Amino acid sequence: MISHRKQLFLIPMALSLLLSANYSCRQDNSAKQIVALAENQLSLLTEETGRLKQADTTSLLVSPRTLNGKGELVLVRSRDWTSGFFPGALWYLYELTGKKKWQDKAVRFTANMEKEKTNGTTHDMGFKIYCSFGNGFRLTGDTAYREVIIQSARTLATRFNPVIGCIRSWDHSRNKWGYPVIIDNMMNLELLFAASRLTGDTLLRHIAVTHAKTTLKNHFRDDFSSYHVIDYDTLTGQVLQKNTHQGYSHESAWARGQAWALYGYTMCYRETKDETFLRQAEGIASFILNHPRLPEDLVPFWDFDAPEMPDEPRDASAAAIIASALYELGSYSANQLLYRSKADAIVRSLSDHYRAEKGTAHGFILLHSTGSAPAKSEVDVPLIYADYYFLEALVRQARIREGKPVV
Ligand code: GLY
Repeated sequence: MISHRKQLFLIPMALSLLLSANYSCRQDNSAKQIVALAENQLSLLTEETGRLKQADTTSLLVSPRTLNGKGELVLVRSRDWTSGFFPGALWYLYELTGKKKWQDKAVRFTANMEKEKTNGTTHDMGFKIYCSFGNGFRLTGDTAYREVIIQSARTLATRFNPVIGCIRSWDHSRNKWGYPVIIDNMMNLELLFAASRLTGDTLLRHIAVTHAKTTLKNHFRDDFSSYHVIDYDTLTGQVLQKNTHQGYSHESAWARGQAWALYGYTMCYRETKDETFLRQAEGIASFILNHPRLPEDLVPFWDFDAPEMPDEPRDASAAAIIASALYELGSYSANQLLYRSKADAIVRSLSDHYRAEKGTAHGFILLHSTGSAPAKSEVDVPLIYADYYFLEALVRQARIREGKPVV
């Protein structure tokens, strides 16, 4: 017989268990619906991409990136920084569904990327190769993929300058910057960590850690917001300028830049267990989540300081990157409940209010991202990297639900 006092204690506990089971069941159902939509959309996107590739007289176009002003599908060459996201999205769809047809498509589109492994003219190697070959290797263990990852990391490492302690980002705009390093570059370090683990080459890891430490020192303001571009003096390693390229102003907080920073330092903590990186990621999360101009639906405007809010375009890609990063950060931080509930809320918001209707938008999943507002380029459009990080967030959410490690 259970005593009255025990009953008083057990009833709320049972209620809370029921509520959380109910919540998890609802979350599971809505995840199933959004994965079904993603399957539909990426089937369409694959078909349309295939058609455009066939019509391409250069035979160089490999992956979809966005829609142009006329609403037409835009494909890019493998050298474009966004070329790896489509194969990566196909790998995530394979992971989410277990269906071989997605693996077959992922294999096909990943193969298109291989020649990038020796392209040393860009820092975007991680975006291109780790999203495609990295996911492929993680899911299949294919040793040919392993070799591509290693060679790509070695190529990326040639862009490291030990005086500065960073990998050079862009080779363009030499009239503006001597040695530009952008916050986005934090994302490419994951490739170096992976290749170091695969080969035992500690130099690759050293380069990644040094880049992360230099960036932590020079890219951030006291409130944990990040500059976009830091220009360095190659002789002294000193900072020359703190600028923006895709943000509203040099002193503003470009939304996707903050998202790259959050994701980058979370990943660096995963790889190093250096508490400085964890504290940095938590500081960035706090800047984003407590920002007075973060909209209630948690999808940021393209810049936290954009002047015409609420009439500014949103950036769903930044929201998707933030959600994915928060799932991982939650597994290292004492703020787990907060980060996971915010990540869930972002995924819900994107799923409910930012997704394309089935069979529209040439097969992209999310609408309303912004590539570069100052250049009036890709404003309020679908972007393939929004879909990639959205699917990654769904994978991470599912892993948490199944009690598996997030990454
Ligand atoms: N890495 C380029 C961008 O975030 O737009």
